[in-house]
Amino acid sequence: MNKLHVALVASAIAVAIGAATVVPARAATSYYQDFGGKPGITVLIDQFVGNVAADKRINFYFAHTNIPALKAALVEQVCNLEGGPCPFAMSMPKIHKHMGVTQNAFNALAEDMIRAMDHEQISTAAQNNLLAKLAAMEPQIVTR
Ligand code: HEM
Repeated sequence: MNKLHVALVASAIAVAIGAATVVPARAATSYYQDFGGKPGITVLIDQFVGNVAADKRINFYFAHTNIPALKAALVEQVCNLEGGPCPFAMSMPKIHKHMGVTQNAFNALAEDMIRAMDHEQISTAAQNNLLAKLAAMEPQIVTR
């Protein structure tokens, strides 16, 4: 984990958004190719969900979850967020409303994503782009 990543984990929201602003914008607005397109995102999400499943800080939240459905939804969502050809319209507030997700749980999940992105050797710029987008959803997901 490099310094930037440690900072992102320490404060998922403020720091992630701040870090995103220091990553130079590119001519192309999409990081989709950096993630390896849909096949790369599918491998990344497998890795990420594996990390979450092994993470005792948060895996209890997912005890009754349909994991293949979760993975499929996350692939579509990340594809959509990173500029790929994937429509995505699920409501984050609706899905997470009664889960009682804490800030610490949110940060742990962000850390599991960073670990997965490092494992898949996603570029730092692309990582920060996704992390900033996930951080922007924090108010819709953290409820206590
Ligand atoms: C920005 C961060 C997050 C994103 C983008 C996100 C995205 C999603 C999506 C797309 C689904 C729907 C999957 C489906 O319909 O099968 C989902 C479900 C779920 N999320 Fe999140 N999530 C985030 C953060 C969290 C956190 C921090 C937790 C708890 C630690 C959490 C717990 C869950 C659980 C337990 C489900 C399954 C609900 C069920 O079984 O019906 N999520 N999430």
